[in-house]
Amino acid sequence: MKGTLITFEGSEGSGKSTQIELVRAYLKRKKKTVLFVREPGGVKISEKIRDVLLDVKNTKMSSECETLLYMAARAQLVEEVIAPVLKAGKIVLCDRFLDSTVAYQGYGNGVDVRAIKSIGKFATQTIKPEITFFFDIDAKKGLSRIKGRAKDRIERRALRYHNRVRKGYTEIARKEPGRVKLIDANQTKEEIFAVVVKHIDRLLKIH
Ligand SMILES: Nc1ncnc2c1ncn2[C@@H]1O[C@H](COP(=O)(O)OP(=O)(O)O)[C@@H](O)[C@H]1O
Ligand SMILES: [Mg+2]
Repeated sequence: MKGTLITFEGSEGSGKSTQIELVRAYLKRKKKTVLFVREPGGVKISEKIRDVLLDVKNTKMSSECETLLYMAARAQLVEEVIAPVLKAGKIVLCDRFLDSTVAYQGYGNGVDVRAIKSIGKFATQTIKPEITFFFDIDAKKGLSRIKGRAKDRIERRALRYHNRVRKGYTEIARKEPGRVKLIDANQTKEEIFAVVVKHIDRLLKIH
């Protein structure tokens, strides 16, 4: 693949959307062609799967079903958008990717992490991010930042669930420090962005 996939991970309210917007604007100023997508969703079929996943009425959904739906949404997004755009040599910014499933369904809900990684390879056509930003924040603090928002099916889960997700992300970062950059999300938006940009400049050889 000639292009570059950059993913943004972390709990709700950790600042993913905020940083993605800053990175988009920055790369635009640097005359780079960037495409932004979000998970689950990003394309029509995957957005439909997203609706099923986040619908608060789906109280009976099993962890396995949930995992596979995330993977199905991801597979369609990869096939329709991510793979072709990377092939064309462009930059893709993705709000959540496979690490989210490892953290939320694996560490959070007890689904076998090895199974998730194996299905993940299939769903992503083995495409991996060049760099992943993990914005680390206390689950309670993150959730308090998004207090005003209507909570979806996942966001409604108990605080101890969100704490396990955070621990999961921390494990992922510990295992793959080359790819996953753990950033303290308690800092100001500007401080966080300064760290993010430093990594992006190095990765894309921007001076
Ligand atoms: N570093 C930060 N410090 C304080 N508030 C922040 C910071 N980054 C983002 N926010 C605010 O917290 C809320 C959640 O941020 P957002 O980027 O939407 O997080 P996410 O996309 O990870 O859910 C927003 O209101 C945003 O303005
Ligand atoms: Mg967001």
